[in-house]
Amino acid sequence: MIEVRDLSHVFQTPRGAFQALAEVSLAIPRGDFVAIIGRSGAGKSTFLRTLNGLLTPSRGQVLVHGTDITRLPKRELQKYRRRVGFIFQQFNLVPRLSVLDNVLHGRLGYLPTWRGLLGLYTDHDYQIARREIARVDLASKETARVDTLSGGQQQRVAIARAMAQEPELILADEPAANLDPVLSEEVMRILKGFNETLGVTVVVNIHTLELARKYARRIVAFRRGRVVFDGAPEALGEDLVDEIYERKETWA
Ligand SMILES: Nc1ncnc2c1ncn2[C@@H]1O[C@H](COP(=O)(O)OP(=O)(O)OP(=O)(O)O)[C@@H](O)[C@H]1O
Ligand SMILES: [Mg+2]
Repeated sequence: MIEVRDLSHVFQTPRGAFQALAEVSLAIPRGDFVAIIGRSGAGKSTFLRTLNGLLTPSRGQVLVHGTDITRLPKRELQKYRRRVGFIFQQFNLVPRLSVLDNVLHGRLGYLPTWRGLLGLYTDHDYQIARREIARVDLASKETARVDTLSGGQQQRVAIARAMAQEPELILADEPAANLDPVLSEEVMRILKGFNETLGVTVVVNIHTLELARKYARRIVAFRRGRVVFDGAPEALGEDLVDEIYERKETWA
């Protein structure tokens, strides 16, 4: 479904050029569940943003069903993004709006802009939003303002919003980073459930190695912008883990 070819990205900063991604190549078949690991600054978020066309890489291609999405005209990119759910660490909900209204936002890509601005969703949009709210077990909270919900509940609203897009791909950037261990597991379980029952492809950045090992079918490890491991969780040995997290390095 996705083929990343020779992807590199250099950020220009006041202190000079910084290479955040270096020659990344990998393929993600439909239905895969990939956890991206690596220490802070390794390039995980940068990588995820290129998959969604949020960031145009300096070099390389991201082919989705054969189309390079890194150079798409804006309109085409919007159409692509409609089917890509993005889940953030900090939820990115509209705090003063209800659960239902936030989840309906997942339908905006399917509406003409003027309808979206007026909030003129169709019955079909409402049906889908309610179905997804029920799936994350928040039906009783449908009319509650999201700023009255707990962190775990808010992240479930964000997941429902992403699912309301009827996505073929979900990209999640540290979706559990602000949650306690129990809720982190819950988020991963929900994503895993969607992956297994609905066949949604999931790519999730995660800093907890144990969660990656437990839930992902495949782990991709970044170190300083490069892929240093790509394989089954069982194949990731401790020596490599030390290298990925740069645990044994002496101060230079
Ligand atoms: N907009 C930007 N301008 C300049 N440098 C950036 C920018 N965004 C990211 N970087 C740099 O690129 C590198 C990779 O950042 P990225 O956010 O992808 O890391 P990450 O693996 O997601 O880290 P974390 O685990 O902390 O979220 C970092 O060194 C970061 O400082
Ligand atoms: Mg990040």
